[in-house]
Amino acid sequence: MYSIITSALLASTALALPQRRQAPVNTTTCNGKTYEYLSLAGYGFTPSNSRDKFGDTAGGIGSSAALDAKTWTLHDNGTYTGLLYALPDRGWNTEGTLNFQPRVHKFQIEFDPASTGPSPNLQLHYLDSIRFSTDADVPFTGLDPNILPPYLTTTDGTTLPSATYSGDGFGGDGPGGSRPSLDSEGIVLMPDGTMYISDEYGDYIYHFTAEGRLITAIPPPEAFVPIRNDSVSFSAASPPRYDPDRETVPEDPDFGRANNQGLEALTRSPDGKYLYALTQSALSQDGGAEGDEFRRWSRLVRMDLDAAEGGVPPVVAQYVVELPVYTDEDDELAVAAQSEIKYISDTQFLVLARDGAGRGQDETESRYRRADVFDISGATDVNEMDTVAPGGSLAEGIVQATYCTFLDFNVNSELTKFGLHNGGEQDVGLLNEKWESLVLAPVQPVVDGQQWGNWGGKQGSSDEYFLFSLSDNDFITQDGYMKGGEFQYSDESGYDLLNQVLVFKVRLPQGSQPLVE
Ligand SMILES: *[C@@H]1O[C@H](CO)[C@@H](O)[C@H](O)[C@H]1NC(C)=O
Ligand SMILES: *[C@@H]1O[C@H](CO)[C@@H](O)[C@H](O)[C@H]1NC(C)=O
Ligand SMILES: *[C@@H]1O[C@H](CO)[C@@H](O)[C@H](O)[C@H]1NC(C)=O
Repeated sequence: MYSIITSALLASTALALPQRRQAPVNTTTCNGKTYEYLSLAGYGFTPSNSRDKFGDTAGGIGSSAALDAKTWTLHDNGTYTGLLYALPDRGWNTEGTLNFQPRVHKFQIEFDPASTGPSPNLQLHYLDSIRFSTDADVPFTGLDPNILPPYLTTTDGTTLPSATYSGDGFGGDGPGGSRPSLDSEGIVLMPDGTMYISDEYGDYIYHFTAEGRLITAIPPPEAFVPIRNDSVSFSAASPPRYDPDRETVPEDPDFGRANNQGLEALTRSPDGKYLYALTQSALSQDGGAEGDEFRRWSRLVRMDLDAAEGGVPPVVAQYVVELPVYTDEDDELAVAAQSEIKYISDTQFLVLARDGAGRGQDETESRYRRADVFDISGATDVNEMDTVAPGGSLAEGIVQATYCTFLDFNVNSELTKFGLHNGGEQDVGLLNEKWESLVLAPVQPVVDGQQWGNWGGKQGSSDEYFLFSLSDNDFITQDGYMKGGEFQYSDESGYDLLNQVLVFKVRLPQGSQPLVE
């Protein structure tokens, strides 16, 4: 009785009092638009050894993620549920690449923001996985592409960066074969259920059906195609585990995307007109081949889906995004490469830039791990330019995007709510290294119990959002499986890394409707 009266009183008091605005943890104003990091609102994880329906380690689920917006629901009890697509990349690869078939997992997520720690308040219930294959039903593979051709093609003749392997491609017996290579790093869901997946190997973008069958392979602009000795060479110098001595010479391409620095980030405008993709760091000819401190000039491409011919959208603009620089543990300047972008408006995007410190790494204290903002309204369109930053210096006459630092993942006073921390002990509360996804979901998705959807649906009036970020644990576990459960492994690091997920509550610039058609 007492508690009923108390909560009724509290409820009426809360209604009567004017809403007190929460003091933000971080605020930034970027070209007149203000963003606020209000609080760390959630934490969840999947175990390092969880397996998918094919018997494989579910792995680093957070190379990218996307919410099926029409499923995002606020229930009467204050919890939210939704269907989350989570993208692992090329399979377990810390000891060499394997013939793992890239895929996307689906999770039913359940998030209870009223529970503010220390227990996790975000649950991820595994539902399903979809594996990727070509239009001729050839499975994609996590193996590094061949150094030189032969490369496979689609049925309409588009070259696919691909790997020719021996045995079963895991080091065991088998007939060998060729499969297109995919190191999947970005996912965009379309309203019709199809998906665009961006890739780090070829830096292609692949359009798949909801069942994972290739519709169109979209090659990158010419300036992105990796070249060695004047020939197209898609290898990322990531040899197979069964052939660790295979050498790619020269290791770094002379031109085009740098090794393992391809299209890490993919997003779309909510009306479905434009796709945007951003390289992890500079192309080889823009400083990417010069070493870590020179690779700050990454490139954003805008593709026009409405103008697509044969399913291939033309690149209608390119912009230079200057990545942030920080001082590392050796007091050297380093560039924080980026792992994800998210559309906010036609001119502003969130971008996740970070260093390489975290759980399982020698260095536990991250110096740069942020969701920042960049604005392209004053930036030069560099479309069709081969080189924009020779040797790592931006060419005269080119204006880069405005870059604004925003949400710091590493604020320990927020992390501690969920028993988490940056730096210090190598324990389960230490944040992972690889944070690679950004997902926005509105705090007020309309009314309790009603579905909200960005396609024809309504959105609450608030500018508050939950910003989910998932980490990629690189499939690091002592109880791992590949090849449908037949190939067993334990990562030589000795670690079992959770796939950690953080949920930040943010306020976007007034009137932003990044998800509404
Ligand atoms: C964000 O706020 C925290 C806590 O006040 C502070 O330590 C951190 O430096 C801030 N970061 C930025 C980018 O302003
Ligand atoms: C809240 O309600 C939803 C929908 O009825 C249910 O699935 C969920 O388990 C409930 N959660 C809690 C914490 O009661
Ligand atoms: C490039 O040329 C060098 C020197 O001739 C050779 O060793 C290497 O194999 C060549 N690499 C490719 C990818 O053609």
